Amino acid sequence: MKVGYARTLSPADRRAAAELYWLAFGSKLARVVGPTPKALAFIERVLDPAHVLVARDADGAVLGVAGFRTADGAFVGGELADLCAVYGRAGGLWRAACLRLLARDAAEEGIVVDGLSVRAGMRGQGIGTALLEALCVEAQARGYRAIRLDVVEENLRARALYERLGFTVRARRGGRFTRWLFDFGGFWVMVRRL
Ligand SMILES: CC(C)(COP(=O)(O)OP(=O)(O)OC[C@H]1O[C@@H](n2cnc3c(N)ncnc32)[C@H](O)[C@@H]1OP(=O)(O)O)[C@@H](O)C(=O)NCCC(=O)NCCS
Repeated sequence: MKVGYARTLSPADRRAAAELYWLAFGSKLARVVGPTPKALAFIERVLDPAHVLVARDADGAVLGVAGFRTADGAFVGGELADLCAVYGRAGGLWRAACLRLLARDAAEEGIVVDGLSVRAGMRGQGIGTALLEALCVEAQARGYRAIRLDVVEENLRARALYERLGFTVRARRGGRFTRWLFDFGGFWVMVRRL
């Protein structure tokens, strides 16, 4: 199948991109950002087309996304006002406090991967690799010297992929709070120099 890679996410693609993001991260974020309809409404509302690379088939259907975060913004960010608009004031306030635990600064010298996800039936065909390589090219073009990502320690297959692509573990983070709130224990911080 012919797959194209681009830096454009049209308004019509926002739902598909939000669903892909939720497919990959919903099980970890469900306690804080769920239930699913609310989570999708929030993600679709805040996602920033300036911070994502998109893989599409010949008909234009979204097959995968590689969101990223820089000092200028993030693929899925949002403000307290966005959380309150979707979950109400009280719901927005406690969720904002929880999500702050996950907030990651852009590495001072790099770009941070903020949501790599490929449609379930399309995995294992090189799309994730191509998205990550394209993101490295994008990062280099913007003058960054490194690309960073976080991967939960349970996700051994994804970690193996990243190691094959030249990422190395720089630190382990997380612990009791992430297990309790987000249903994962630790995560590896991995970096590839460009
Ligand atoms: C991880 C992921 C983005 C890789 O994209 P992909 O297009 O499947 O990757 P490629 O075809 O380029 O490379 C294949 C490798 O990806 C990894 N991979 C494949 N399926 C995977 C899955 N369901 N979950 C995690 N990693 C997977 C494996 O390392 C695989 O190599 P292997 O077949 O030798 O084990 C994609 O599988 C995915 O969306 N997984 C679920 C969400 C996820 O785990 N995102 C990463 C969070 S850090």
